[in-house]
Amino acid sequence: MSAYVIAGGRALDGSVQIHGAKNSVLPILAACLLAPGACVIQNCPRLSDVEASLAILRHLGCRAERQGEAVVVDASAPTRFDVPDRLMREMRSSVIFLGAILGRMGQARLCAPGGCELGPRPIDLHLAAIRALGGTVEEQGGSLFCQGQLQGADIVLSLPSVGATENAMLAAVCAQGTTTITNAAREPEIVDLQGFLQALGANVRGAGSSVITVEGGTPLHGGSYRVMGDRIVAATYLTAVAAAGGSVEVTGVDWRTLSTVTAVLKEAGCQVTSGADRIFLRTEGPLKGVRPVRTAPYPGFPTDAQAPLMAALAGGTGCTVFVENMFESRYRHVDELIRMGADIRVEGRVAVVYGVSRLHGAPVMATDLRGGAALVVAALGAEGSSTVTGLHHIDRGYQSLEYDLQCLGASIRRV
Ligand code: UD1
Repeated sequence: MSAYVIAGGRALDGSVQIHGAKNSVLPILAACLLAPGACVIQNCPRLSDVEASLAILRHLGCRAERQGEAVVVDASAPTRFDVPDRLMREMRSSVIFLGAILGRMGQARLCAPGGCELGPRPIDLHLAAIRALGGTVEEQGGSLFCQGQLQGADIVLSLPSVGATENAMLAAVCAQGTTTITNAAREPEIVDLQGFLQALGANVRGAGSSVITVEGGTPLHGGSYRVMGDRIVAATYLTAVAAAGGSVEVTGVDWRTLSTVTAVLKEAGCQVTSGADRIFLRTEGPLKGVRPVRTAPYPGFPTDAQAPLMAALAGGTGCTVFVENMFESRYRHVDELIRMGADIRVEGRVAVVYGVSRLHGAPVMATDLRGGAALVVAALGAEGSSTVTGLHHIDRGYQSLEYDLQCLGASIRRV
């Protein structure tokens, strides 16, 4: 079992290049299945979730290999339409392959993804979108079997689910005729998926707004695309430096995708300036409590940045109320932060953080990806040494966390 050993309390200073976005590259890798030609995905991060996606593509009969920072996928002749249990379990977001497999192969078999560390993660909206396009969905002994020749349709999502929007887009590209997706998620990763689909010759527009239109059935071809920088990794490094003190420049990320996060960090007392593809942050004394932080679909405050921000504010001064509106069980990091001396009270979706001025080091365990990152943030700002276990969660979303933090002067090593 590996662990991070972190000696906290050192100010950080330097610049970090942000790697490609996990939440962009996963649907983009699924989209590669739609093109009967080679796709080159540049800025493809080295993450365990990416490896799981490549394994799914290979299982489906595609060529998928890494070439430096790029990945090349050739889906000229897929041979299968199922995602085995083992791979579904390895990466819960593998449900994103549903629309692409069904669209390309006319049928798809996936085991139903179970609940997860963030609480139940239903896929009813994904399935409603498939049904709206004319696909049938049958449950067969714990697995889902979908089939049908898809036709363009009006899809109205009852809430702007990121994954359901992406699945609907991928299926709609293969459907004959026009599809409109209303109440679509507006996340930047959806704009990135649209950019990739356009590079393959698909006729998709509207991503970034609440209505996405797809003219399906146009012939696709291979293409090359560069994945956007990971805004949540950038948010993690900004909060790490906010917690530990010092200054940092994160590059390779569009500052506009992080404006709600940087606004809160400013309110907490940090000095933040932004250029087109970079953000600079300097701390000016201990962090102060801020007005309530409510997670919301984009462009609201991202749920994925809630835990790292909470970790930073827990070691600051003053009180902050968090309201987690996106997932039911997204406060599992709180008990671990309390081991480090944090004063946090949770009541349902609300967490009240009373800053204790400084956390202390402790042995703690990551129980999910962003919660794990939050423990690293807390440990960097804490007095003394911490050990963080459960690194397989963190490795799902951070390509080089310890290396990047070491470059900023942090004392962090994997043992
Ligand atoms: C994506 C991100 C994840 C992020 C989340 C919210 C990826 C790989 N993951 O997850 O990092 O935290 O967006 O920004 O991109 N829901 C339903 N029925 C459905 C689908 C979703 O009720 O069929 C609910 C979920 O339970 C949740 C809410 O909708 O409460 C938002 O989920 P969704 O936007 O779908 O998140 P993911 O796509 O799973």
